[in-house]
Amino acid sequence: MKTQETIELYNKYVIGNYGRLPRVIVKGEGCYIWDADGNKILDMFPGWAVSGTGHCHPKVVAAIRKQVGELIHMDNTFYTEQQARLAQLLSERAFGGKCFFCNSGAEANEAALKLARRHTASHKYKYITAERGFHGRTFAAVTATAQPKYHQGFLPMLPGFSYVPFNDIKALEGAFTDEVAAVMVEPIQGEGGINIANKEYLQAIRELCDKHGALMILDEVQTGVGRTGKWFGYQQFGVEPDIMTLAKALGGGVAIGAMMAKPEVAASLVPGTHASTFGGNSLACAAGIAVIEAIEEEGLLENAAKMGAYARGKLEALAKKHSIIDHVRGIGLMIGIELNAAGGGIVSKCLELGLRINCTHDTILRFMPPMTVTSDQLDEAVDILDKAIAKV
Ligand SMILES: Cc1ncc(COP(=O)(O)O)c(C=O)c1O
Repeated sequence: MKTQETIELYNKYVIGNYGRLPRVIVKGEGCYIWDADGNKILDMFPGWAVSGTGHCHPKVVAAIRKQVGELIHMDNTFYTEQQARLAQLLSERAFGGKCFFCNSGAEANEAALKLARRHTASHKYKYITAERGFHGRTFAAVTATAQPKYHQGFLPMLPGFSYVPFNDIKALEGAFTDEVAAVMVEPIQGEGGINIANKEYLQAIRELCDKHGALMILDEVQTGVGRTGKWFGYQQFGVEPDIMTLAKALGGGVAIGAMMAKPEVAASLVPGTHASTFGGNSLACAAGIAVIEAIEEEGLLENAAKMGAYARGKLEALAKKHSIIDHVRGIGLMIGIELNAAGGGIVSKCLELGLRINCTHDTILRFMPPMTVTSDQLDEAVDILDKAIAKV
C-alpha cells in the first residue's frame, strides 16, 4: 500500500487524537526504522522509549516466536512460569519487590495509586505529585499529571491531588498533611523535559513519607529498565521507593506494565482488590525476560552509561557551535537539549535528513537512543542534527 493510501485510511477510520508525522513505518531493526517509501531513518527516540533494546532485538524476537507457538495468553486464574520468572528477575534487581503486571504505564500508575490507598490508614486519600510530571492518560494518572494542558476539557479531575514544583523541598513540606497516602514523582521527568531530581529532594520525599505514614511512589515508566545506565533510575540516587512503576522498555516492544511494591506493602493487594485481564500474559512476560537477559548478556547498562556520556560530550560541542542550544542535560541515554527557541522545525528537518528525535515542551529536544547504540551511530545522529540546525 502506498503511503498516501494508508494515511487516507487513517483519516477515514482512525480517531485523530495524535499529531502524526507523514511517514508509514514498515520495518525496524536496532537503531533504524524504514518507511514505506524505502527511506532509512536513524531512530534516536525509538517508540517513545519503548524499544530500549532497539527495534526487534534478535533475542526478544526469538523469545516471542518460541512463546507464541506454546501459549500466548493465560488469564490470572492460573499460574504461568513466564510471569513467575519475570517477577523474580525484576525483584532480584529492585528492592526485593513483588510485582503486579498490567499493560501500560498509566495502568501501572493506577495500580500504584490504588495500592497506596489500600495500604495506608483509611482517612488517607490524598496524593502529592510534581509540576511538569507525566504519569499517563487514564483519569487518575492524568489527574496525577500536574500539567493543566492535559486536564483541559476533562474537569473536574479526581479529588485529593495537590501539585508542587519539582525539586522544591519547602513546597513539599508545605503540602504534606496527615491525609496524604502517597507522593508520586519521576526520578527524571521525561515528558516534562529531562528534569533530573536532586538526591536531597528524593531523600526529603522518603523522610516525609516515613514521618507521615505515606508511601513513596517512583514512576520509572521512562527511567526504568536500564536507560540511565542502572537497572532503575532510583539506583542513581540511592533512595529506595515503596512502590515503583514500569512499562515502556520492559517488553522490548510488546505491551507490558508492572507495579512493584515492597513485600509488606504488596500484601495489601489481596484477591478482589485489583486485576487486569491481559496483565502478565505469557507472551509479554516472555518478551520481558528476554529484554532483561539481553541487557545483562550484552552489557547494555554499561553501554548506556558509556554512550550516554559520549553523546552528551558530542552534543555539548554542538552547543558551542549553535547558539540556539542553551545547554544539554541528562543521565545515561536520557538526554535533553534545551533550546532557547522552539524546536519543532528542527525535528521536522532532522526527519527529512534521516534522523528521528523528539521535542517536548516546545523547546527541549529529547534524545533517547536504544541502549544498543554505537558511537558511530551517535556520530551520525549528531552530524544530522548539526545540519538540521544549520538549515533551520
Ligand atoms: C513517566 C511516564 N509515566 C507514565 C506514562 C504513561 O505510559 P503509557 O502511555 O504506557 O500509559 C509515560 C508515557 O510517556 C511516562 O513517560
